[in-house]
Amino acid sequence: MKTKVIPVDRDRPEPQAIEEAAAALRAGKLVVFPTETVYGLGAHALDPSAVQRIFDAKERPANDPLIVHIAHIGQVNQCAAAMPAGARKLALSFWAGPLTLVLKKKPAVPDLVTAGLDSVALRVPSHRVARALMEMTGVPVAAPSANRFSRPSPTTAAHVLDDLDGRVDLILDAGPTDIGLESTIVDFTVEPPVLRRPGGITLEQIQSLVPEVVLVEGQGRVDQPQSAPGQLTRHYAPRAVMTLFEGPPSGVVERIAAEARTAAAQGNRVGILAPEEDLLALAPLIAAHASVGRISVQRYGSRNDLERSGRELFAAIRALDETGVDVILASSVGSDGLARAIRDRLMRAADGRIRTVV
Ligand code: TXA
Ligand code: MG
Repeated sequence: MKTKVIPVDRDRPEPQAIEEAAAALRAGKLVVFPTETVYGLGAHALDPSAVQRIFDAKERPANDPLIVHIAHIGQVNQCAAAMPAGARKLALSFWAGPLTLVLKKKPAVPDLVTAGLDSVALRVPSHRVARALMEMTGVPVAAPSANRFSRPSPTTAAHVLDDLDGRVDLILDAGPTDIGLESTIVDFTVEPPVLRRPGGITLEQIQSLVPEVVLVEGQGRVDQPQSAPGQLTRHYAPRAVMTLFEGPPSGVVERIAAEARTAAAQGNRVGILAPEEDLLALAPLIAAHASVGRISVQRYGSRNDLERSGRELFAAIRALDETGVDVILASSVGSDGLARAIRDRLMRAADGRIRTVV
């Protein structure tokens, strides 16, 4: 199929573009649209053959359930059988926005969407283009991130084309997304409710409203039963072998420099993924090697601006991968607040390879 790309204004989306995309969705076609987190690959959620096309286009395993996007909280009862008080509280505070709630599902939601689970993941995106599209379409829209399975989530239409050109009908291109990390997922079908995926809304923000929500440490490791399908460790996999370094920034920088020199001396092409402060400190330590092109560096934001780190992370991983590096040495930016979500994505990209520097 030929993929059509329509540029849209992120603040005032052109009605003709939204109408065309909404008609395509209602007709069972695949439409990629921007959300405030990442680009989503959308299909009519109540049409099983449309939903099947999502799995085919992404080459996504059928045991990985999809998030259903709705226009407003009033649409929850089209898909969910119940909304516990805590879930309602979070929805009223954080919707529209980067929060997904897992609730008991209604039979109207096809099993394909939920991978056979009796729960459904729901979210109201805040991006103007996404909201206009949800409103105009008038039906729930199933949409995972618009990347091939195991590639980093796309934060630009160019990323989407890299992965899915010829596999989707339409892409609404509204430029880079704001948050750059997928939504926070909280599961209210268990007691107490569980944070399934950290994201743009932090655990701290959630617990300030619903203190019962817990974090299950170590969840989603490949060697454990999958309570949330799709929470596989290796989910944001670069082609290069990545290792994540944690600890005091000065120690991390020295360790990365040493590892980079060793790996480069062994004939590897080395990529370094780090916030800008670390890259500045690294520059003199790797200068001789970088000048001969054996070490490439890629910035993702700053330790002082984690929102920028989140926004730039996936694009930075893609960019490093494109340089054809064999190994990636990454520096972490902390572990709470927004850094929890950033660290989660880095750990997945690193497939669990973490080195703690003391
Ligand atoms: O920000 C986002 O959430 C983006 C944009 C496009 O909205 N979407 C996204 O979808 O990240 P995706 O498919 O890449 O992640 C969906 C994940 C699944 O892998 C699974 O972990 C969780 O949501 N999920 C979906 N349905 C679930 C359910 N019924 N129970 C538990 N987890 C579920
Ligand atoms: Mg995804």
